Amino acid sequence: MKRVIVTGGAGFIGSHTAVELAEAGYDPVIVDDLRNSEERALQGIAGIIGKDPEVHRVDCTDEEAFARVFEQGAVHGVIHFAAYKAVGESVAEPLKYYHNNIGSLVVLLRLMERYGVKRLVFSSSCTVYGDPDRLPVTESAPDRNAMSPYGFTKVVCERLLRDQSAADPDLRASLLRYFNPIGAHPSARIGELPLGVPNNLVPFVTQTAAGLRKELTVFGDDYDTPDGSCVRDYIHVVDLARAHVLALGRLDGKDVPGCEVFNLGTGTGNSVLEVVRTFEEVSGLPLPHRIGPRRPGDVPAVYADPTRARDVLGFECRYGLREALADAWRWQQALAGD
Ligand code: UFG
Repeated sequence: MKRVIVTGGAGFIGSHTAVELAEAGYDPVIVDDLRNSEERALQGIAGIIGKDPEVHRVDCTDEEAFARVFEQGAVHGVIHFAAYKAVGESVAEPLKYYHNNIGSLVVLLRLMERYGVKRLVFSSSCTVYGDPDRLPVTESAPDRNAMSPYGFTKVVCERLLRDQSAADPDLRASLLRYFNPIGAHPSARIGELPLGVPNNLVPFVTQTAAGLRKELTVFGDDYDTPDGSCVRDYIHVVDLARAHVLALGRLDGKDVPGCEVFNLGTGTGNSVLEVVRTFEEVSGLPLPHRIGPRRPGDVPAVYADPTRARDVLGFECRYGLREALADAWRWQQALAGD
């Protein structure tokens, strides 16, 4: 079996990717110190794939501890998720973000070099586009988001990967720019586990519907968008996870460039108010919400041109907003049932 290291494999996107890897015949090796995730994610993965995955509770910036994972058997490739991702927190604690997000990638690349591992799939974000001039946004739109330290760590990590792949002609890296991942595994065994009050829209919506939050605040309805609320491209996390398996498979090819970038989105933009309405329809519940002020740093609208991922990776989304919200709600109910 091909061992594939999944850093952050107990996290939201990492756990779903570990499942898709196992289903595609790879052996996911989870490297995660659970600082921002929970044991139950590992149990959920085991429940879906029918066996306990290999897990190492290691901080990815700890080079010697991480090296031991490489020593335990040949590594086919790495999918690197482990990183902090809260925009607001990154403004308050920039060093935490620079140290962890950039430091862990440096350590990982050093180890890949030391152990001769040449395939890397990297978790990037549409945040690198900032507020794009044209929609839908293609991969050739300029990188320019230095608005938050979090966003800037993604810009720096992408640059780091370009530099390293130029220096090592055998290294193959796939840079995946996610739009807004939502939903949960249809089995409701794994999903998003926000610690504390969620920053992101969909966990806030499901927690409000479950009665854990009083009401959702819609951050602004005076944007230059069809209904005045912000527009995003919400992609089902299972679709997103599957794209990682396709990206990894592509790295086996002969004529693959050292570093390639792909947008991962559906190609459709939905407004916050559309998300609220669609959630009400699929859950059959009213969602208490009110309009509040804009959230600093939000861009009015961003959604993907997914053509490149389709043409080069053969990736197409199987799920839409309705399925994603239904799965997110099923997951929230599973959590409440514990
Ligand atoms: N929103 C609300 N109320 C909430 C939470 C969110 O109205 O309580 C709105 C936001 O204003 C935004 C939309 O819902 O318009 C989506 O917000 P999220 O926080 O879920 O997602 P973002 O688009 O802000 O953030 C995502 C990723 C980040 C990444 C960013 C780049 O979560 O990691 O895209 O644009 F940096």
